[in-house]
Parts: sequence; structure tokens; C-alpha cells
Amino acid sequence: ASQMAASGPLAGKIALVTAGPTVEAIDPVRYISNRSSGKMGIAIAEALADAGAQVKLVLGPTHISTTHAGVRIIPVESAAEMFNACVAEYPLADVIVMAAAVADYRPAQVAEMKIKKGEGGMQLALEKTHDILRTLGNNKAAEQVLVGFSLETNNERENALKKLREKNLDLVVLNSLADAGAGFDYDTNKVTLFDNRGKETALPLQSKQAVAREIVNAIISLHHA
Ligand code: CTP
Ligand code: CA
Repeated sequence: ASQMAASGPLAGKIALVTAGPTVEAIDPVRYISNRSSGKMGIAIAEALADAGAQVKLVLGPTHISTTHAGVRIIPVESAAEMFNACVAEYPLADVIVMAAAVADYRPAQVAEMKIKKGEGGMQLALEKTHDILRTLGNNKAAEQVLVGFSLETNNERENALKKLREKNLDLVVLNSLADAGAGFDYDTNKVTLFDNRGKETALPLQSKQAVAREIVNAIISLHHA
């Protein structure tokens, strides 16, 4: 860790960020997961650190990472591990951004031995994972700024506003997969921000680093309001 005191609008603040996918084991050799490179969440962690925050990045399995001095990585694999890490870090955090693509379902049973194929198809029973963001929203302190993503292919605005309201968020970042150049493996993204005061900001297609700076600026104005 850096010995230098950070400066910037978030100096002295602690931020908690999730990024990447989670993977849910079926057996020792198989899993189910979500598409996510982790690029957007990592860019947000770095932008928060650039603004002076001390950042904890809860990161699911991905081939990319960060060496930013202001970011400490907490590696996790499953939604359950991500949930536990977030619940442990949450009470200390001033700013929380959940950018991870968390699996909504996991296999109801994890086979200890490799499942051998038989004749015909197979049925896999799934159970729901905990909604991490909803749990944090239900336990939010007055000063905490809680930010979620809303990944949508249709009814985007309505679905994003529903998540803002139902998960008790301060800001929701709508990531529409209908937009060209936006999404999983791109270095660019096009998002719309909705805050809890009814402000709506449609951002242009730009690098994920530039999008991250815009999100951090929105967080700073909410934090100081
Ligand atoms: N999220 C979470 N824990 C989960 C599922 C989602 O913390 N188990 C968070 C994501 O990190 C994101 C937000 O909730 O910030 C919205 O995720 P999204 O998949 O768009 O919405 P869901 O609430 O899971 O609903 P659905 O997938 O049905 O649209
Ligand atoms: Ca989901």
C-alpha cells in the first residue's frame, strides 16, 4: 500500500466496488457464469482511487486486473463469496459501486465428483443467489452513497428506474446492450445515469475510463449534497 496520503475530492473516504462475473460450480470441472470482462468495474475502482478514495475491489474471475496503488483486490469466485466479502466490507464504506455481473442462479447441488454423461439430455436444478445490492440497500446508512448497474436489453428506462427504487440506490447506471459499441468485451460503453432526485444524464459513447470518471463525478456531487 502507498504511504502517501491521497488527495482529491474523495480523500479519506473508503470505497467498495464489485466487478467481473461470478462462477457457480456444477461439479469439479464445470460451472455456469455470466458474460463480463470486469473492465467497467475496474475502471470505476481506478477512477475512485484517482479521486483519492481508498478502494476495495471485490473481483470475480477475469483475465484483467489493476495495479493501481489505491486499489486493494479481494478475489472471489462465487456469488456467495462475493456476498460475504461485501457484507464484511460494507459497514466501513462511504461509497459503494456494484458493477459485477453476479449470477442470479446457482446449481442447487454441487456434485463432488465429475458428472458423467449418460444417454439423452440432462436437467440441472438451480436455486437463486442472494441479491447483494438489494441486501446492501436494505441496510444503507444515511451518509453512504450506493450505486448499482442495470443491464438491460429491453424496457431499459423502466427497468433501471425500478432497480433504483426497489434496491434503495442513490444512482443507477443503465447499460443497454441495444447500443452499438456498448457491453462486455468492448473498451467503450454508452450509459445513462439516473439519480435518486430524478436527474437523468445520457452520456455519449466513450471509453470505459471516461464513463468511469463521469460516474465518479456524479457520486461526488451526491456525496457532497
Ligand atoms: N446484483 C447483485 N447481486 C445479485 C444480482 C445483481 O448485487 N445477485 C447487482 C448487480 O451488480 C447490479 C444490479 O444488481 O449492480 C443489477 O443487476 P441486474 O442483473 O441488471 O438486475 P437483477 O436485479 O439481477 O435483475 P434481472 O437480472 O432480472 O434484470
Ligand atoms: Ca441479474
